[in-house]
Amino acid sequence: MSNLFWVGGAVATVILAIPTGVLLYTITRYRHKPDQQGEPHQVYGFARLEIAWTVIPTIIVLVIFGLSIHTQGLAEPNTDPGPSGRSDLTVIGHQWWWELRYPSGVVSANEIHIPVRTRWLVSLKSADVVHGFWVPRVGNQIYLIPGQTNHIWLEADKPGVYEGQCAEFCGAQHAWMLLRVIAQPQAVFDRWQRDQSRRAPAPTDRARSAPPPATGAGNTIARFEQPATGAGVTQASLVASGAQLFQQLPCQSCHAIAGTRANAGIGPDLTHLASRATLAAGRLDNTPANLRDWLRDPQKYKEGSHMPSLLLTPNQIDALTAYLESLK
Ligand code: CUA
Repeated sequence: MSNLFWVGGAVATVILAIPTGVLLYTITRYRHKPDQQGEPHQVYGFARLEIAWTVIPTIIVLVIFGLSIHTQGLAEPNTDPGPSGRSDLTVIGHQWWWELRYPSGVVSANEIHIPVRTRWLVSLKSADVVHGFWVPRVGNQIYLIPGQTNHIWLEADKPGVYEGQCAEFCGAQHAWMLLRVIAQPQAVFDRWQRDQSRRAPAPTDRARSAPPPATGAGNTIARFEQPATGAGVTQASLVASGAQLFQQLPCQSCHAIAGTRANAGIGPDLTHLASRATLAAGRLDNTPANLRDWLRDPQKYKEGSHMPSLLLTPNQIDALTAYLESLK
């Protein structure tokens, strides 16, 4: 594309330079002189010159047209995946988040990890209404249409985080349907994918390998609110009770956590929630304080979101936060 720009620029410069030069030359060379009388000699028609200035521009236009078509082909090769329908990633638009399914079996949400300098063919679908996938620095914009699969190429030249946004109005929280592409060196991507393929460890394993109980204001309150277990509430037991609550409360009827009974696909997969940088499709940074607030009342941050406020007690929120934060 940049080659085409320079070729086009050079041709345009030459085209500008020739008539301007001829004009300047003529103005100075043939200007009226004091000793001249009347009109200068008039010339009408010069067939060879007229043919030349018709044919040459036509050739120039055709050549640039050809180069443009060629460049377009290089920049956006055919996205037809062929009869296999295989692609490197499937993105499914939901109101108002992005489901990501990798051929390796990894399922994630909102944050697309890709290896850098590798062109990926991405399939795009919608679970509900029309959405628009758009991460301007790594690919084109394309619709996600219910009942149809579209394709797009995704490629990043440099490692980094590329921000994107749903580009088609899709309801109340369309503006909070952000997405990110995280381009990483192949080895880093491979490690990420390996980590994401792991299932959630069982809470009993956690209790054994859990770090010592954290101290601090938050935890003191947590202990205070749980007189039944008293001061003995460790991080590990908080995590374990969070894991239990997750299966008892309606959480598991919408979300999936691999390795547990929860395997619903209505909301984002939470198997590795703690490894993500944001919550609720970019609405909040993924910090314990924000997660706690989000669990308390999702509608406060995303009005109309399909995640209801479950009227959780502070104890339940503490336990669920501890559990979800442990899902690295
Ligand atoms: Cu999805 Cu706008």
